Formats: sequence, structure tokens, C-alpha cells
Amino acid sequence: MSKLLIANWKMNPLLSVDAVTLANKIDVNAKKYKSVSVGIAPAFVHIPLIPKPKSVWMGAQDVFWENPNDGGAFTGEVSLDMLRNIGASFVIIGHSERRKNLGETDEMINRKVKMLVKAKFYMVLCVGEPLSIRSKGFAAAKKYVASQLKKDLKGVNNFHKLGVVAYEPIWAIGTGKSDNPELASEMAEYIKKLTGADVLYGGSVTSKNAESFLMKPSINGALVGGASLNAQEFTKIIEIASKV
Ligand code: 13P
Repeated sequence: MSKLLIANWKMNPLLSVDAVTLANKIDVNAKKYKSVSVGIAPAFVHIPLIPKPKSVWMGAQDVFWENPNDGGAFTGEVSLDMLRNIGASFVIIGHSERRKNLGETDEMINRKVKMLVKAKFYMVLCVGEPLSIRSKGFAAAKKYVASQLKKDLKGVNNFHKLGVVAYEPIWAIGTGKSDNPELASEMAEYIKKLTGADVLYGGSVTSKNAESFLMKPSINGALVGGASLNAQEFTKIIEIASKV
């Protein structure tokens, strides 16, 4: 089965010239691995500066939950139509860093999901438990994730046709401590059962551990942070995804 790799660049790189260079390198390299779907999610301000990629999708890291066609009084926010107009074709929502640092709630995320489903726009919905929950055991983690999904997808029937879930245990993000691939695979199966959607794993994915996750049939790909900021390293992950 072909895998999906999404590069989440978060608030990097600082200079737009570096974002353009990184995007171009990844675009050129990804061309060699046609069996893998690759998406890049640069910061909002960098998206329109990057020449339209040929082999990868361009996406954004967030979107506002309202999309009024005549704009609106929502200071600091970016609408789906604005993103479409600058060439984005998918969006990441519900990332744990937004939940934690910006107080984004499941209710807000649910509004975003509904708006995106209505607009038929592809999304990567992030869920995952904090360490305090995981330390109570894997069953507690499953319960936590199920509760997030229930709230995030409340009143939504056909999410699986328009989106993928990224399972990102919070304690594994940016820590170098990736999840146990067996457990990540079990969680992916569980999420699939609950939503019918494909599932990506995210959390300290590198070229060293990518195979152990991507070889699992239940894991449809990866959401990659730090390792996607280095074109060579991310290309290695794409190559691995093409071989599993
Ligand atoms: P890292 O790959 O840097 O751990 O980040 C994962 C992530 O949060 C991707 O959305």
C-alpha cells in the first residue's frame, strides 16, 4: 500500500529563502519515489513564496473554523479560501502544540473539521495522549484518544473520505523518544476501527526508525517534524516509505 508522508515544518525555517530552497529540494527528490505521496506544510507566510511544487502537495499547518466568502473580523486568522488561493491543498488541524500553547479545544477543532468537510478539503487531524495519561497504561491512552476523536468528529459522518488521522503521542514529539512501533500500530488499528480513516504516526520519526513504523500495514504513513527540515534526511524517509 502506498504511504503518505507529511512534513510539518512548524515555525521553521526563519528565512523564507530557506523555506523555498528546502521545498524545492524535497520536490525534486520526491519525484524519484512516485509510489509515495508527500506533502509539505510550511508556515503560512512561506506558502505563497514557494513555486508550485510538481511532485509534492502543499499544505498549511492550521486554518480558521469560519470561511466567510467576503472575509471577516477575525484578527490574526487565515481562512480556507485564503489558503486555497495560495495553492494549499490540505491542512493540518488539532496539532497538540496548538492545543497546548494556544488553548485550542476539541470544540474548536470540531468546528474546523465540519467547515473542511463541508468545503470538501483534505485534512490531517492530530490526536495523541500526554505522558501523564500514557504512564497510566496503554488502555488509558486508547481511552483518551477515543475521547478526542469522539469530540473532534462529533456530528461528522464522512471524515474518512476527506481526511487522515495523525496519531502523535505528545511525549514522543520532538523528544527523540518515539513510540514503540507495535503499540503505535495497535493504536492505528484502534483509530481505524473508530473512524474508518487512514492513520499516520508522528513523534520523533527519523530515517533510523521510519521503517519500523512504516512497515506496519495499519500505519499508512508519517507526520514528520524535525526530520523534515533536512532535505537529505526527509528524502531518506521517503525512500524508506517507497520500499516497505
Ligand atoms: P517531531 O518529528 O519533531 O517529533 O514532530 C512531530 C510532529 O509534531 C509532527 O506534527
